[in-house]
Amino acid sequence: MEIEELPGIGKSIAEKLRDSGYSTVEAIAAASIGELKDVGLGESSAIKIVNAAKEAVGGMGFESGLDVLKKRKLVGKLSTNSKELDALLGGGIETQAITELFGKFGSGKTQLGHQLSVNVQLPKKEGGLDGTAIFIDTENTFRPERIQQMASALGLDPNETLKNIHVARAYNSDHQMLLAEKAAELANEYGTRLVVVDSLTAHFRAEYVGRGTLAERQQKLNRLLHILQRKLSDPYNIAVVVTNQVMARPDIVFGDPTTPIGGHIVGHTATYRIYLRKGKGDKRIARLIDSPSLPEGECVFEVTTDGIRDVE
Ligand code: GTP
Ligand code: MG
Repeated sequence: MEIEELPGIGKSIAEKLRDSGYSTVEAIAAASIGELKDVGLGESSAIKIVNAAKEAVGGMGFESGLDVLKKRKLVGKLSTNSKELDALLGGGIETQAITELFGKFGSGKTQLGHQLSVNVQLPKKEGGLDGTAIFIDTENTFRPERIQQMASALGLDPNETLKNIHVARAYNSDHQMLLAEKAAELANEYGTRLVVVDSLTAHFRAEYVGRGTLAERQQKLNRLLHILQRKLSDPYNIAVVVTNQVMARPDIVFGDPTTPIGGHIVGHTATYRIYLRKGKGDKRIARLIDSPSLPEGECVFEVTTDGIRDVE
């Protein structure tokens, strides 16, 4: 939410507020009346604006345990099409959460993103969420033909299935941020229940490579994750799935292979982290890492012509 959306904030007041560092609704909500008067607002409008901002951020972020419970009850589970993988995830990919798929090239991140974009359209009793998907594609790896294949295998109309996936190509990290904002604006209208960002990190890696600005990259990535969580996942009960490529490190023979090369870029924000690696042939191994509520474990699934499947 932009500060202009608060009642009583026109263009000139917004400018004054921003110049003094009050560029977010949260910052205004946390300000005192006196501080806003120092910015040049009259007392009555300062009171009005602070109250509106507090309301907008929901009583400064506290809600009752009962409200949290009510919201938790709305959490949906989206099937991956593999019973083993669903079981590992406690029933499927959760809504109101960000799930990070990370692993090396060819580990199945994009394939899973495609499968979920199909499955989300299924009715709930068949493991779907009765909704549409938004697919933010940064590497030009979205393949409509693959979607058709997966849809047909589930007895869905291939073209109807494609119509329910809204794809946007992100050309750089700024564009990716804009598309996330745009997705938040359109999610309701589209009936979106799944947002895939494939890849979350590729542009960030490429753009910030070799620059001494890791903190800047991190900050921007955090902002993007914040948009995904606070503007999409939470308010619209959406499952957000992001992918993150991990590069092999020939210099490390021992040690934790699940440590991404650039450090844990998204590890602390994602609710669920799934580490994917190749097994023999079409087999893929998934491991759940640092989940707040589920035991760590592994399972094996397969990428077949029909899509993601359990191993026969
Ligand atoms: P990067 O984006 O490069 O990091 O990799 P990724 O993790 O996104 O890998 P992706 O999901 O694209 O997996 C590619 C692999 O999926 C291929 O090497 C194939 O093994 C498998 N795959 C893709 N399409 C098909 C298909 O139509 N049939 C079968 N059997 N396997 C497929
Ligand atoms: Mg990929």
